[in-house]
Amino acid sequence: MKLFLDTANVAAIKKWVDTGLIDGVTTNPTHLAKEGTDPKKRVLEICKLLPYGEISVEVTETDPNKVYEQAKEIAALSDNILVKIPCHRDYYPIIAQLVDEDVKLNITLVFSLVQSLFMCKLGVTYISPFIGRWDDIDVEGKDVLIELRDVIDDYTYETQVLAASIRGVRHLHEAILSGVDAATVPLDVLQKASQHILTDQGIGKFNADWAKLGVKNFP
Ligand code: E4P
Repeated sequence: MKLFLDTANVAAIKKWVDTGLIDGVTTNPTHLAKEGTDPKKRVLEICKLLPYGEISVEVTETDPNKVYEQAKEIAALSDNILVKIPCHRDYYPIIAQLVDEDVKLNITLVFSLVQSLFMCKLGVTYISPFIGRWDDIDVEGKDVLIELRDVIDDYTYETQVLAASIRGVRHLHEAILSGVDAATVPLDVLQKASQHILTDQGIGKFNADWAKLGVKNFP
């Protein structure tokens, strides 16, 4: 399972790339807007940090023809870019065309099994079901992930499922259990997920016991 960072913060990405855990980054207009006024520079920096990773960059145009042109321009920025396009009816024809032209797409703002199946039929690389935004309105977001895994496997589609809108460690746990191909994780969630009180206590106890022995060189 791949782990992506859900951020456009270059310093934080650098820090997490060092762990060897990170397979890519998902940016979006909100993330890029937070980081300042030169989003193209930011995207290129992120692409260089993970030359073998997958970096998702979202379109910001809304008219379908302009979305098509912008998607091509974004894809041309770097070999490791996937273009994010919202799962909206107006964009279905250009999604089909871009897939035909071998542009790798990550379809974002996916909320239902039916939307997902449509995108699998169009042959996109990733679909991103947003689980946190379902939970925000009191609907169990993880259910879409579970249903989706079964459907994609039954029909043998090649589209990969990328769990998005992850709000806590519990969501990440549910994404792992549902068998998704990837999850994109915000920095605070990844930080929390990488700590465990019992691991910390265990290290403390081993260190204390070892210190009592008084051996300086080992082995
Ligand atoms: C995914 O690619 C999106 O950037 C992200 O997961 C959105 O999450 P949010 O619902 O927390 O904004």
